[in-house]
Order: sequence, then structure tokens, then C-alpha cells
Amino acid sequence: MKNKVKYRSAPGVDVEVFLADAAEEFKISHVGIIEIIQNFHREMERGLGREESTLKMLPSFAGRPSGKETGDFLAIDLGGTNLRVLCISLEGNGRYSLKAAERFVIPPALMGGQGAALFDYIADCLKASVERNKINACIFQELAFTFSFPVEQLSISSGKLIQWTKGFTVAGVEGNDVVQLIAEALKRKGLEFIHVAALTNDTASTLAAGCYGDPACDMGVILGTGTNACYLERIARIRERPELTDWRGEMIVNTEWGNFDAGCDNRFDRMLDGASLNPKKQHFEKMVSGMYLGELARLVIVEMVEKGLLFEGINPAVFSVAYSLTTEQMAKTKEAMAFLNDFSMHDVSAADRRCVSEVFRIVSERSARLASAGIAAVVSWMDADIELLHTIAIDGSLFQKYPGYQACMRTLLSELYGERANRISFVPVSDGSGIGAAVVAAVADASHTSSSPLRVAPDKVFYRCDTE
Ligand code: GLC
Repeated sequence: MKNKVKYRSAPGVDVEVFLADAAEEFKISHVGIIEIIQNFHREMERGLGREESTLKMLPSFAGRPSGKETGDFLAIDLGGTNLRVLCISLEGNGRYSLKAAERFVIPPALMGGQGAALFDYIADCLKASVERNKINACIFQELAFTFSFPVEQLSISSGKLIQWTKGFTVAGVEGNDVVQLIAEALKRKGLEFIHVAALTNDTASTLAAGCYGDPACDMGVILGTGTNACYLERIARIRERPELTDWRGEMIVNTEWGNFDAGCDNRFDRMLDGASLNPKKQHFEKMVSGMYLGELARLVIVEMVEKGLLFEGINPAVFSVAYSLTTEQMAKTKEAMAFLNDFSMHDVSAADRRCVSEVFRIVSERSARLASAGIAAVVSWMDADIELLHTIAIDGSLFQKYPGYQACMRTLLSELYGERANRISFVPVSDGSGIGAAVVAAVADASHTSSSPLRVAPDKVFYRCDTE
């Protein structure tokens, strides 16, 4: 730790006072939560009428699955840093079997490169996965594409990317139909016999996966690298959309709540936003999701160091680099602070470890409360007095793995609704975006598959029909 700037604590600045102030800055009072919910409703209303709104409220062209859907589907799920490839047989009555499920890491260069390179990579991964798993190309020709970014859908199997989120800046995709882009890549790779049956957001896939097993499911939420939610909306409430004239009943609507402005940002949020790739966008996501929590905690820690309140005033190199602290590290080390060892910080005092732990608590609890406020807003939009049962299908590592996160979300619902909070259940849905996409594709493709000729795979690709 030689040759480092050593910060001295300013007279009168005390660790406990700093932490109490930070807790206050990240705190959202009960009244604040009620205001957020009211504001959320206003933005939903505006978004559903295509007025200017921080909530895009995008129709998905997918209705409520019945649980009876059957069929064989390939599914790809481009969510964030990972690409998932799945091969799924839906057996009806909420049952399915996975013939293959593989995960590929998106090389960072592709997240900021050219569109064709990204879609070629996706097609390559799909091809590698089906070959490795000896998938029968005569059976698995329908592809469900979960594309976890804001898309203005034109139909169940087409849609234009509105804008990238979660650190993607790939050129030549915004404003274009992503189904066409993947279809062109499949063709370049000799996979033109694969038909893209459905394009869905990960929230819609998660909701569909939830509905497949539970008819009371009416909302899908992602709390992972990014955050977002969708729900079942009555068509009559979706306005200014002539393309929905023939629709009746309900449709899944993607809120894109990551862009919601909760109006309670503090100076750490503003610092993070100002230095981000997409300033003034995705406010809610920057306060809630896994991509950003580590960075928010790091910004608080750096300020403590600079005030001479932590690590004896010496900023360890690791904390000087933006995004060096990940939410995964926060989650794994809530108590033990083992990540400090990963950063070669072996001699951190117990008092400093406690401070870091407290910063993690402050940042993660706000995230959980905001996520839960978002759920409360959507549920109360569907059912103002929470008279019905609501199952919320939720996927994402923050929800699944962050210690205490779910409990904190539940506490907020109880604060808001008392006993009635028990009518809202959270159901973790792993692999939801793969399975649910297949469910959406099954609904969409029911008529298509019965009338369309089989697109036979070339001999060289996958396994031939007669080999199984
Ligand atoms: C981002 C995307 C959104 C997605 C969410 C979760 O907010 O804009 O479409 O659902 O991340 O992956």
C-alpha cells in the first residue's frame, strides 16, 4: 500500500454519522413508496395510450397461455452477458422436458461491435449446441427467440429494437427487426430451415412459463443483470394501437420498468448515471438491478475512503476501477467479506468489514424495496384492492441468490397491504425465459405448424430424421 494517496478523516467526520447519512440518502419512506406507486400508475396510463412516458408499455402479441400447449422448440435467450440455447418439448399440463440447455458467454467485444457479428455468433452457438446434443433437425425447426431488450413488436414474430440497454451498444440493430437479423444469420450458417416462431422479452417468457404451471400467474419479473416486468393487460385498456383491433381479451404487456423514473435518486445514483453508457435512461434499472448495485456500493465506499473513514484512508486499487465490485461479490460475501481476500486485502479490520457490510445492506435493501414497489404498482393496477390471488413469476440472480432480498421484498408488501399481501406469491422460475418462449411460440405457432410444409434440414446439419 506504499505510494498511495492517504486520506485523513476530516475533523468531526465520523464513520457512524456517515453511514447514518448514507442510509438516509438510500432510504425510501412509506410515503415515498406510495408516491412511487401513484407515479407508476400515471406513467402506465400514459404509456398504454402511447403518450410520452418513462414506461414504454409494449404489447407482446401474446395472450395468456392455457398450460395445455405442446410442441418441440428450439429456444435462444439473449439476456445480458450470457446466451442460453435450449431445446424443449412441451408435453402439456404444465409439463415439459429439456433435451438440451447450454450457456455461452457473449464475448465483450461483440456487445459493442457490429450487428451481423453478434447475430452470427448467436447462430453459431445454436448450431454448436444442437450438433453437440444430437438434436433431431426434422423435429426441432421452430425457434422461440427471447430477446431481452425493449422491442416495438409488429407481430408475435417480428419487432424492432428501440434501444440497447445493459451495456450493449451493437451497431446496426436499433430500429431494425431483430427477427430478420437472426433469420439472416441462420441463413448465412446454413440453418435457413429454422423458422422463428416467436419473439419475446424475457419478462414475457417468464410470465408464460409461470402461467404454464399456474393459471393464477399474471406477472413476470426479471431481477438480474437488468430489471423489468410484464403483466396481463386487458386489450380494452391498450389504446392507440390499430394493429390490435382484432385482438380480444388479454395480452402480455412489457412495461420496460427499467426506464421508470422513481424520482428518488441521490448523489450516488447521479454519479453512476452521469458516467454510464446511457445517461438519463434506465433510472430504475440503475437503482435496482445487478448490473449496477456493485457500482453504487463502490461509489459509497470510495467516498468513505476519501473522507479517511475506511481502510485507513488508502483507496485499494480495486476500488478505483469502475464496476470492479460486482453484485455477485456483494451477494456471496454479505457476512464473511471474503471478496476482500480476492482483492488481496487480507488485513482489513473487523470495523472496516462491518462498514462495508453496512454499505451493501443499504444499497441492496433499497433495491429490494423498489423492486417490490414496482410489483405492488403493477398488481394494484390490475386489482386495486388486491382482492384476487396473484402469482408473480420471477427470474434473475438478484432475486434467486442475494441473501435476504426476497424477505425484504415481502416486508414491503406487508407494509403496504397487511394480511392481503399473502394473496401475492412470488414463484421463482428458473430457465423461464427458455421454457416460456417455447410456450409463447406454441400458442403462436398452433395454426402455422399444421399448415406449413416440413422444412427438412440439409444432411450435413444436426442429426437426420432417420437417425433417431
Ligand atoms: C433491460 C431490458 C429489458 C429486459 C431487462 C431484464 O431492462 O431493457 O427488456 O427485460 O433488462 O433482462
